[in-house]
Amino acid sequence: MSDSHIKKILVVGAGQMGAGIAQVSAQAGFGVLLVDALQASLDKARAGIEKSLAKLKEKGLLAEEPTEVMARFKWASSLSEAKTFAPQMVIEAVSENLSVKQKIFEELDALLAPEVVFCSNTSSISITKLASFTKRADRFMGMHFMNPVPLMKLVELIEGLSTSREVSRIVRGAAERMGKTCVVSKDRAGFIINRILMPMINESFFVLGEDLGTAEDIDLGMKLGTNQPMGPLALADFIGLDTCLSILEVMHKYLGEDKYRPAPLLRQYVDAGRLGKKTGIGVYAY
Ligand code: CAA
Repeated sequence: MSDSHIKKILVVGAGQMGAGIAQVSAQAGFGVLLVDALQASLDKARAGIEKSLAKLKEKGLLAEEPTEVMARFKWASSLSEAKTFAPQMVIEAVSENLSVKQKIFEELDALLAPEVVFCSNTSSISITKLASFTKRADRFMGMHFMNPVPLMKLVELIEGLSTSREVSRIVRGAAERMGKTCVVSKDRAGFIINRILMPMINESFFVLGEDLGTAEDIDLGMKLGTNQPMGPLALADFIGLDTCLSILEVMHKYLGEDKYRPAPLLRQYVDAGRLGKKTGIGVYAY
């Protein structure tokens, strides 16, 4: 199989990341089935994708009409639809919960042909562990997109212990068709991007907790002082404080070093339900 054999992609999970991945897949010409157990999530994803496509069109960044891209979509609230859709590739983008992911991969492994390539968009969970829930560890890979997926140029590819060279090539080919540039990471907690990004975000919560500066000054300082598009606290709100916390917890547990210990203030925000942009309040109010 080569990457040109990939015609249809099943995306599981219609949250922010899943919707973005489905969108760039459809923009690349793949047929897409987007599955989410919640109809409300599918409706929200569809509205978000339509809005994003309209924005890209307005800016001259989309050659086709948005309706042509939308015509490549199918939507379903049950994984059982995957069998009739018969994709060549699966990208899982549900929440960072090992047992939820396990259930999905076990079900899909039984439903889909053995040659179908499985990918997870996990931001920190071991790809080797996720692959072990299937009988196709050689055809399993990490495909880590960045948020907002339609705008961010990177995909981080993660090879598990048994990922084959062929599958690594196929997944890279698919990512490149989506207009992305790839970097490859070994399978260690946090991979490359979050291993470096999360300690910076975590430190910004320590700095805020120590009252070294206001949230606005911390963010403005990093924005103007180091040319980042948004400061680390605003970025944490954008990613989701619960997501940041769970990535740091995985890194702390598996890498075993105190430098990954989540800042108490970050945990407090999460305990308070202030998860960032998605809940309307995090470090900032939206
Ligand atoms: N689709 C299409 N257009 C979009 C969009 C989307 N999904 N999201 C935003 N835009 C558009 C906005 O509508 C806006 O359009 P106008 O110029 O017409 O108003 C334009 O993009 C710029 O947006 P903003 O004015 O809101 O803000 P900005 O100039 O700061 O750009 C940003 C937004 C691209 C998100 C930029 O701030 C940025 O690059 N931030 C850093 C993002 C980042 O680091 N992401 C990685 C996080 S880590 C991760 O994802 C992995 C993990 O595991 C945690």
